Amino acid sequence: MEIKITKTTAPRQKPADPTKLGFGTVFTDHLFTMDYDAGQGWHDPEIVPLQNLSIHPGAAVFHYGAEVFEGLKAYRTDDGSVQLFRPADNMQRMRDSAERIQLPDFDADFMLNAVLKLVELDQDWVPNVPSASLYIRPFEICTDIDLGLHGIQHAKMLIILSPVGSYYPGGLKPVDILIEDNDVRAVRGGTGYAKCGGNYAAANRAAHKAEQKGYSQVLWLDGVHRKYIEEVGGMNVMFKINGKVVTPELTGSVLPGVTRRSCIQLLRDKGLEVEERLISVDELMDTLRSGALEEAWGCGTAAVISPIGSFAYQDQVLTVNEQKIGPCAQELYDTLTGIQWGRIEDPYHWIVKVPKKS
Ligand code: COI
Repeated sequence: MEIKITKTTAPRQKPADPTKLGFGTVFTDHLFTMDYDAGQGWHDPEIVPLQNLSIHPGAAVFHYGAEVFEGLKAYRTDDGSVQLFRPADNMQRMRDSAERIQLPDFDADFMLNAVLKLVELDQDWVPNVPSASLYIRPFEICTDIDLGLHGIQHAKMLIILSPVGSYYPGGLKPVDILIEDNDVRAVRGGTGYAKCGGNYAAANRAAHKAEQKGYSQVLWLDGVHRKYIEEVGGMNVMFKINGKVVTPELTGSVLPGVTRRSCIQLLRDKGLEVEERLISVDELMDTLRSGALEEAWGCGTAAVISPIGSFAYQDQVLTVNEQKIGPCAQELYDTLTGIQWGRIEDPYHWIVKVPKKS
């Protein structure tokens, strides 16, 4: 399938100060769209000027949350070229997410090509200031006009692009985390491993409560025992305990993060032991009290590496590493961002170059 391209005749104003971008509120000139109809399959892939969508209010996406999405980034290197980080992993995860929601499957190579084409066209929007990048948001929605609960017949695939700065306004400054012991995000057999909008909607109440109390995000416990640590809203989590790195295993209710996978590989290749296992909130609090917990950080595409400065659980607040970024998180951040921004060699073949604008 050929992607039809219609370029904008009215390019939008780029942000005046790319050092003050924030996250996800500015969008580029174009979007990718493609439609699916049962019997016909995917058709009419197009890149068009960024515009509002016209979708019937009876479409199932508005009522039953039939939606999946991805998040990846394009980085500008010192020589001015633009590159992506492990984009094929995101496309495969989106296929896995779509399978969970029973949205139509798609060709991952075709979608990766669509990402490359769109970023190639809008590459002038990739910021050239430290820590800023172009966030790429592919998503798939159900467009069936049907309030009944039936198998999905119609869908739409879209990709939008947003130049972004740090996800947390403080950048690498350690964040304070509230451990949530009432609401749960996901249960095994549910949609926890899928990147679908519903998971994030289910997180809203606890996230609001945490925000009102002055915390950046919540740390989720498992939905069955309310005991085992799962992930932080928007990122996976890692702990350095007595010299080893421990991260919750992928039980089915935890997102299989691309950054998580990359961190595990980088840490192991540096000779550190990494355990993927169940870790209970009691174990975490004990390691905090005894001083065995050396560092804690979150990791994700949007958040990159985000050091954690404290955990609040029930009536206790315990500080991690005196609210400072630790050496392990710092080194991970430097290596990961070094590869992403092309400042250090990529021995893993994680980088995919975006062609120069034709
Ligand atoms: C990402 O890291 O790409 C995410 O999707 C997190 C987002 C929900 C803020």
